[in-house]
Amino acid sequence: MKKSILINAFLLTSVLGLAQNTKDAKMHQFVGNLMSKMTLEEKLGQLNLPASSDFVTGAVSSSDIAEKVKAGKVGGVFNIRSVTKIKELQEFAVNNTRLHIPLLFGMDVIHGYRTIFPIPLGMSATWDMGLVERSAQIAASEASADGIQWTFSPMVDLTRDPRWGRTSEGNGEDAFLSSAIAKAMVHGYQGDDLSAPNTIMSCVKHYALYGAAEGGRDYNTTDMSRVRMYNEYFPPYKAAVDAGVGSVMVSFNEIDGVPASGNKWLVDDVLRKQWKFNGFVVSDYTGIPEMVNHGMGDFQTVNALSLNAGVDMDMVGEGFLTTLKKSMQEGKVSMAQINKACERILIAKYQLGLFDDPYKYCNEARSAKEVFTAANRAEARKIAAQSFVLLKNNNHILPLSAGKKIALVGPLANAKENMTGTWSVGADNTQSVTLLKGLTDAIGTNGKLVYAKGSNLEDDEEMQKRQTMFGKDIARDGRTAEQMIQEAISISADADVIVAALGEGAESSGESASKSEIDIPYAQKRLLKALLATGKPVVLVLFNGRPLTLSWESENVPAILDVWFAGSEAGDAIADALLGKVNPSGKLSMSFPRNVGQIPVYYNHKNTGRPLTGKWFAKFQSNYIDVPNDPLYPFGYGLSYTQFEYGAMQLSAKQLKGNQTLTVTVPVKNTGKYAGKEVVQLYIRDEVGSITRPVQELKGFNKIELAPGETKNISFEITPELLKFYNGDLKLDWESGDFQIMVGTNSKEVQVAKVNWQK
Ligand code: BGC
Repeated sequence: MKKSILINAFLLTSVLGLAQNTKDAKMHQFVGNLMSKMTLEEKLGQLNLPASSDFVTGAVSSSDIAEKVKAGKVGGVFNIRSVTKIKELQEFAVNNTRLHIPLLFGMDVIHGYRTIFPIPLGMSATWDMGLVERSAQIAASEASADGIQWTFSPMVDLTRDPRWGRTSEGNGEDAFLSSAIAKAMVHGYQGDDLSAPNTIMSCVKHYALYGAAEGGRDYNTTDMSRVRMYNEYFPPYKAAVDAGVGSVMVSFNEIDGVPASGNKWLVDDVLRKQWKFNGFVVSDYTGIPEMVNHGMGDFQTVNALSLNAGVDMDMVGEGFLTTLKKSMQEGKVSMAQINKACERILIAKYQLGLFDDPYKYCNEARSAKEVFTAANRAEARKIAAQSFVLLKNNNHILPLSAGKKIALVGPLANAKENMTGTWSVGADNTQSVTLLKGLTDAIGTNGKLVYAKGSNLEDDEEMQKRQTMFGKDIARDGRTAEQMIQEAISISADADVIVAALGEGAESSGESASKSEIDIPYAQKRLLKALLATGKPVVLVLFNGRPLTLSWESENVPAILDVWFAGSEAGDAIADALLGKVNPSGKLSMSFPRNVGQIPVYYNHKNTGRPLTGKWFAKFQSNYIDVPNDPLYPFGYGLSYTQFEYGAMQLSAKQLKGNQTLTVTVPVKNTGKYAGKEVVQLYIRDEVGSITRPVQELKGFNKIELAPGETKNISFEITPELLKFYNGDLKLDWESGDFQIMVGTNSKEVQVAKVNWQK
């Protein structure tokens, strides 16, 4: 019986393999055949990816791009937000080009298309891969209905520097969590069939190390050892590749002195040869010509460098289009290299099904019916509430009890345009739900709500403008700070609780939004102090695209709920959490520093030769005179309205050999009054290695739900696979020795046991 199942499974695999081979052969034959008819110019045209700004207004045929498209000089276009325009341009391309090759339409669909989910940093705080995948699936289904076939997401740049504005676009500081997210996102976008009308091609970015920009200043230099790259920064990109991502975007920064856009080691050796990536590589926006500024040569030189490195598509730079022919004639690039790049792009178009039906993704009827639907918005609301992290909740102020009078105060309470956060290109921000609206609807007649703005986002108008651009305005209030505070205090006079909606503007984070101070802006802190001085309980609802420095707030404000930028349904989702309809269960994916001087502060650091073992401060130990080593809120941290109690952890063995499996089990009990979710976290420390190892590394997590009084036994299976790391020779392997196994509710509160594992 068993044997026949095995044989059947073998036959099935063989049949599937054969079918795939036949499909692939057909594809290569089609693409080969097409390429045999293409001129060099037409091939170079496929490598060219202009932005949409030239022709989003007006008719396609009279736009600047029409001539280029007609001449076969465009392979794809990105960031057009109109199914009608996309269809029109696709028709123009198919009908007016010699070989009728359809265009590829891309967009930055980063955390939702029209229905917007939390910013990626918020999504990562859900620690729920099912939800992450679902958000990408919904984004793909909406974007594909509007003609988009390709998204520049996920962004998996690991970062340990919250000054870096693009922290908001990624998954925080940990490679294991970010790798799981990369996989879930790629699968969510691409599904199992790229040619399906409701899936789109994913593009993992920004390869590589972009999040390690010096000083957290965007586009800045990075420099790190290879062991750190391989062990800490590379894994999430690799996870996306292993998950079958169709394309990769190279980053702006340099690596080992060579910008990623022209780095052959990075693209050809690591990505293609070591990781076996066989999709196409696109540059970032003018990333190729920017190599002139980096000091890599003139325009022609840097374009040749980029193609030779293995980059296939030139985003906006136009240098592939205009210089590669000359470079080929001069022997600086080869025809084979151009062919390869063109082939990879045509294969992507084939896999998307564009040669079968160039219009399969622009379905106006589907667009009208399937975008920003009530069902999608309901899912976004649920998902958003799962991303909130309860940082503090003294005396169980939250959830707010029914029937009370709430004073809602703050510049973010009624800031519709700011709810979706950065990178929400497809959003209609006029449709977003504010906290004022969400709370008003949720309370109905069961309580009372009063509102005052309380302060501007920033006292300085120019500073506010920089953080509210791209249609994310927060109208300036012309009154003095004192007048606004007075109003807030007076409306709060007979309130039972004050909810202060404070923090950053939507564009305080994101691209080119680096900051050297990451406090709540002074104008708002002054307001917060005045609110606290009333003696009323204050709940801080914090909007932020990065970890902020909250040392003062954590001392003085009784309750803090971090809501990131939660998307189009933010207001309803926050109201759900404040009123206890949803119990917060998010956990930080990035440490919150005590002050900027502590940066970088991250949980999986090395031990040093002089670790601080006892109390801070100790002379001649690795610590600061003026601030402790540990962060204010550690990686993995987040409270709940209920309490979870961890029982003693059990190990299946203390001494292991070879490929055995170690099972770690821990009972977790909900000892509080509310049903709630807890993320049970597993960390490992490899005590001795041929290279130094981090003091702990996340190696497993499980988000569980427990009713009041309920206990669940949570198990993790550990195999040597989880113990592997890249050694000094960059070989992936594990080493015999002692390992600490840690289980707990966050990276700092763990139980520890030791095992010995021999090869
Ligand atoms: C960003 C990318 C983005 C691209 C296209 C660049 O400036 O770095 O993340 O995908 O623009 O909009």
